[in-house]
Amino acid sequence: MMNPLLCLMILFLCFSLCKSQLHPIPAKIDGFVYKKPIVWGESVVVEAFLDPVCSDSRDSWLPLKQAFDYYSGQLSLVVHPVPMPYHSNSFTACRSLHIANKLNSSSFYPLLELFFKTQGKYYSAPTYGLSRAIIVADMTKLALTVVGESFSTAFQSGFNDSSTDRAARISFKYGCSRGVAGTPSFFVNGMPLSNSTVDYNTWKSIVDPLLSKNKN
Ligand SMILES: *[C@@H]1O[C@H](CO)[C@@H](O)[C@H](O)[C@H]1NC(C)=O
Ligand SMILES: *[C@@H]1O[C@H](CO)[C@@H](O)[C@H](O)[C@H]1NC(C)=O
Ligand SMILES: *[C@@H]1O[C@H](CO)[C@@H](O)[C@H](O)[C@H]1NC(C)=O
Repeated sequence: MMNPLLCLMILFLCFSLCKSQLHPIPAKIDGFVYKKPIVWGESVVVEAFLDPVCSDSRDSWLPLKQAFDYYSGQLSLVVHPVPMPYHSNSFTACRSLHIANKLNSSSFYPLLELFFKTQGKYYSAPTYGLSRAIIVADMTKLALTVVGESFSTAFQSGFNDSSTDRAARISFKYGCSRGVAGTPSFFVNGMPLSNSTVDYNTWKSIVDPLLSKNKN
């Protein structure tokens, strides 16, 4: 049994800590809008929390894209790149995505897809003996193929730019604030999906009824 006085003190401490802003509020809301802008109130909004070096995130991407294409404009898609701590190189990959976006905003999705295609070499086991400098250099080389080779120096210094570190942390914190503890995680019109294995037909079975209700 805990001393009631101790309980009170802990409670007091929690309250005084909670009064201050725990995390900085970012100037822009996190997330990358896929292709078309969100049509607020008219399209169904899907938020996807994806880890670029997670195989389940990779496998979920194609059916989601197919659903997006099928609904052309009635479905809006926002991706949040979130690193899972058990994927050793994930934060670096997520930071690469933020650097890519900063230098060439059209390159975010091409780079995400490139990570999905080549993620195997960044898994924890095959990179066990590699230094972070080697991983950073390798990801830079990979990223430049879609960001544009002319950004070579800028991309390298992007890894020393604290704003890209901050942006990657904010994506992570945004995921935490929504209770994301694994990837992929999906939210539809703000509500979490309990099933993260969503194939094309499941997307249709989720989105179709929402659109028909929205019309009435
Ligand atoms: C920006 O990225 C896009 C997509 O990869 C690419 O087509 C375009 O050439 C890049 N822009 C520059 C200036 O390299
Ligand atoms: C980035 O920082 C690392 C270590 O802090 C340093 O070794 C490297 O030279 C820096 N790179 C650039 C391009 O500034
Ligand atoms: C999740 O959805 C997939 C199909 O998209 C289905 O095969 C699986 O059984 C579902 N899992 C749960 C727990 O509902």
